[in-house]
Amino acid sequence: MGLERADDAGVYKLTDDLAIVQTVDFFTPIVDDPYTFGQIAVANALSDVYAMGGKPLTAMNIVCFPSKTMDISVLTEILRGGLDKMREAGVVLVGGHSVDDPELKYGLSVTGTVHPNRVLTKGGARPGDQLILTKPIGTGIINTAVKGRMAGEPAIETVVQSMTALNKASSEVILQVGVNACTDITGFGLLGHACEMIEDSGVGFKIRSVSVPLFPETLELARMGLIPGGTYRNKEFRSKMVEATGIGDVMLDILFDAQTSGGLLISVGPDKAGLLLAQIKEGGATDAAIIGEVVSHPMQRIVVE
Ligand code: CO
Ligand code: CO
Ligand code: CO
Repeated sequence: MGLERADDAGVYKLTDDLAIVQTVDFFTPIVDDPYTFGQIAVANALSDVYAMGGKPLTAMNIVCFPSKTMDISVLTEILRGGLDKMREAGVVLVGGHSVDDPELKYGLSVTGTVHPNRVLTKGGARPGDQLILTKPIGTGIINTAVKGRMAGEPAIETVVQSMTALNKASSEVILQVGVNACTDITGFGLLGHACEMIEDSGVGFKIRSVSVPLFPETLELARMGLIPGGTYRNKEFRSKMVEATGIGDVMLDILFDAQTSGGLLISVGPDKAGLLLAQIKEGGATDAAIIGEVVSHPMQRIVVE
């Protein structure tokens, strides 16, 4: 696949029935617990392979660690969390690289495989398709609130559980049922990634904000202004493509909230949507929901109601 239209991961065809999928992702801690951070970083790094319909096979650790100021046991716990998540995914750790850095960072480079004719891309949504989102929105807002000690325990638990959850089962069901387009929701937020799906296309999206699953407390915390800077940048960058009618500023902020290890956004034919949603929920993504549909007008725009 070329670079003229960036997708979630790089795909390189080896033979007529085999291609490799490659991606890399690493970041600074978003939770205090090192083991949990390791799990989230791995779930997040593997997500781009799942978003392409790929099967991740091998991975390499990327570590930046402040060895002069931080105890090495912190790193041991991060790597243990990461390794446990890789085991769950059936991924083999084959190496890695670490550097001394004043700021701690962890993540993976990942290699997987996919059939060249079964690659899930961002483009391909067709008018009449239903849009399915597999995880709730709000990790950026809740994580900002955690830093200010404003988030409640149930909200924190739900968000951590979701960020550590693999998109593996959802991706497998998507391949079985067959869909027209797919991406994963990460730093650009739900609307930012939705914009990528309709860029240079002949379609637009209609999204019903009331149907979008949110984490507990997201609305209240957003109303209090606990919104990360990245979310405002997402909104500014894509505002020309989004028409928000009858929804408040706070809801629009939430729909642009930068996500960590978010769910998949899928465009699927209307005849298959019900079955796909049921199977995704059965696979463990119990908050998955149909959040809107693909329309032919307005083109390359998202109408949010
Ligand atoms: Co992605
Ligand atoms: Co990514
Ligand atoms: Co993709």
